[in-house]
Amino acid sequence: MSLALVGPASAQGAQLPLTPACGPEDRITQAQTEGPFYTPQTPEKRDFRSDGAGTPVTVFGFVVDPACRPRANMIVDLWHADDAGSYDNSGYAFRGYQVTDANGRFIFDTIMPGRYPGRTRHYHVKIASGAGVDLTTQLYFPGEPDNDRDGIYDPRLLIEMSEASDGLLGRFDFVLA
Ligand SMILES: [Fe+2]
Repeated sequence: MSLALVGPASAQGAQLPLTPACGPEDRITQAQTEGPFYTPQTPEKRDFRSDGAGTPVTVFGFVVDPACRPRANMIVDLWHADDAGSYDNSGYAFRGYQVTDANGRFIFDTIMPGRYPGRTRHYHVKIASGAGVDLTTQLYFPGEPDNDRDGIYDPRLLIEMSEASDGLLGRFDFVLA
C-alpha cells in the first residue's frame, strides 16, 4: 500500500486520504499476541494526548476486506505505553477505541509510545465487530534501532510514517480475513 496524501498534509486537519490505497500486493494483516497489558471495555476516545506528554502522532488508516471493500462500524481498540514506556494498568491512559466510518476509516491523535525492556516501540490494536474480535496485532515504527532485537517484531506491521505541518502522521491499513 502506498501513502497517497494530496496537498500539504495536516495531522489535525481533514487532508487525509478518503480511500484506502489497495493493490494486488495487499494481504491479510498478520495477527500478533495481545501481550500482558490489555484492558477490556475501554472508552471511546480519539484524543490520547491529554493522557500524557510525548511526541504527537496522528494514527489513521482503513479497515478493509481482502477485496478492499471498507469495513464500516468496526471497533478499533488502541493501547500503548506512555512516553516513558509504562502502561496504565489501573485506568485508561493511552487506551481507547474508535469506530470506523462508512469508508472504513479510523483516526487517533496520540503520541509515540516509549520503549520498555525487551520491546521495541509499538502500538497494540484489536479490531472487533459485534460478532467478536476479528484481529489482535501490534504495529511498529520504521528505523527503530530495537526493531531487529525484538523477538516478535514483524516488518509487515510497519506503520507508514510521514511528517505533517503540525506533527507526525502514521498510516496503517488493516486487511481482515
Ligand atoms: Fe506492549
